[in-house]
Amino acid sequence: MKKIILDKYLCVRCGQCIGACPARLFDRPTLNDYPETIENADEFCISCHHCLAVCPVHALSIDGIDGTMCLDFVRESFPRFEHIATLARMRRSIRRYADKPLEKQVIEQLLDVVRWAPSAKNKLPVKWLVVNNRNKVLELEELVVQWLRSQPQLSNVREVNEPNGIFRGAPCVVVAYTDATALWPAMDTAIAVETLDLCATAMRLGACWAGYFIRASQNDPTINRWLGLSETEIVHGGLMLGYIGDEAYQRVPYRPELELRWI
Ligand SMILES: Cc1cc2nc3c(=O)[nH]c(=O)nc-3n(C[C@H](O)[C@H](O)[C@H](O)COP(=O)(O)O)c2cc1C
Repeated sequence: MKKIILDKYLCVRCGQCIGACPARLFDRPTLNDYPETIENADEFCISCHHCLAVCPVHALSIDGIDGTMCLDFVRESFPRFEHIATLARMRRSIRRYADKPLEKQVIEQLLDVVRWAPSAKNKLPVKWLVVNNRNKVLELEELVVQWLRSQPQLSNVREVNEPNGIFRGAPCVVVAYTDATALWPAMDTAIAVETLDLCATAMRLGACWAGYFIRASQNDPTINRWLGLSETEIVHGGLMLGYIGDEAYQRVPYRPELELRWI
């Protein structure tokens, strides 16, 4: 059970926590009163920590976590729309990687950002596994190819029958998985992996979703065993990562207008 504590000695009664809580767990009889948690608030709290992030005086804590443990942000470094739009447009699925290992600290720096990817009810169900060794990537690739070849409708796919067809020569594969009981596993994983993808692009790294790998690992228990996952853990995401090789895009590929309706 969570423990939400409001320190009335610190609280300035600004009421920000009341408005910020998605579950409406704070209330007060009049504007002059201190906010109080509603009955059973601990049970309904999803630990999103929005209340801690809005409180100007660090008057709140949840399970011992308080506002001082939240990151400060530098308003001036907030990116402009054009920067994010450029990032989204220039992100590409990279399929040619430099023959160069990716430093562990670079991957850690990227993965750290993914902690802030949204997840349904803030359940944060995604777990990560990094295969950051070219020989191990090749071993994993071989397992994926074996499974694909065993599938009549997939055995003739070009990627299955060409060298480096699955992981495209990437030195690193990031695997995202959840427990089978997770609330919205595929959705949460997709958001987190795409966050990673965009951050990798911002670092001028190459990345590409590894769909064949995801499919194979969801169907062939040998792969999950190789990854060291339990029978109740399911892979929902995989991203190749590495320094970009001989890719030299001159422009952004054409994409059709959205199919869009307004109501
Ligand atoms: C869920 C998903 C799975 C994918 N799986 C693969 C894959 O196994 N191999 C690959 O080369 N590209 C894969 N891709 C990349 C797509 O082919 C790519 O996004 C598409 O061709 C558009 O190119 P762009 O990402 O550069 O815009 C995958 C993309 C997604 C979203």
